[in-house]
Amino acid sequence: MDSLPKGIKGIIGPSILSADLSKLTDESRRLLDAGADYLHLDVMDGHFVPNLTIGHPVIKCLRKNIPKVYFDAHMMVAKPEQWIEEMAGAGVNQYTFHIESTTKESMPEIIRKIKEADMKVGLGIKPKTDISVVEEYINDIDVVLIMTVEPGFGGQKFMGDMMEKIRWLRKTYPQLLHIEVDGGVSTKTIDDCAQAGANMIVSGSALIDSKQPDKDIEQMRNLIDENLKSKKLHLQITNNEHCSH
Ligand code: DX5
Ligand code: ZN
Repeated sequence: MDSLPKGIKGIIGPSILSADLSKLTDESRRLLDAGADYLHLDVMDGHFVPNLTIGHPVIKCLRKNIPKVYFDAHMMVAKPEQWIEEMAGAGVNQYTFHIESTTKESMPEIIRKIKEADMKVGLGIKPKTDISVVEEYINDIDVVLIMTVEPGFGGQKFMGDMMEKIRWLRKTYPQLLHIEVDGGVSTKTIDDCAQAGANMIVSGSALIDSKQPDKDIEQMRNLIDENLKSKKLHLQITNNEHCSH
């Protein structure tokens, strides 16, 4: 896909953090060929989190090789306002930054700049952050990213107690937005995410290491869609239509 679905549906975005990053294009293509809907690109600056990964120069190169796929840049950086134009220029579709990385005063401007750069706005919250902080931005953003590990590294253990945040968000704001879950998500933990009402699924090491990523992706997406249907949310807004980007 090259844009977010207008209605709520299950979409699966592999995180390439745990892949062989020297083969970024090949690894990305492998997972897209296996049925992945979008790519979740983890950007770390060594300040907001104690790790370094890739930045906009690498994403720009990846974009040249993979022209039409939706890129979600997960910005684990200390100054989210600093990279908006660069990421847009590199071909990023969704700029997902952390509420903990900025001040309340800076939030409106960051959101405005992301929109002006023609990207979707994702707002990430770390495990220890209360979900209520997103409420005042809920009408201005496209995606809430619920972290189910402390950001910084792939391959950590899924925090099931974060599901309460998703449940609350979906119940309080049904149909309003995309809820993304990130950290330790696999075919073993997907059920919890589905039941809670998440629809954008990031899965890193589980998909990278899987011998059958195609089956795993399908299984995850089906479970999410079944649960959304049971909540009467699945694609209610439009019928599988995609918004233009
Ligand atoms: C963690 C990253 C995640 C992570 C997901 O800081 O934001 O995207 O790479 O990888 P797994 O699924 O291995 O936890
Ligand atoms: Zn991530």
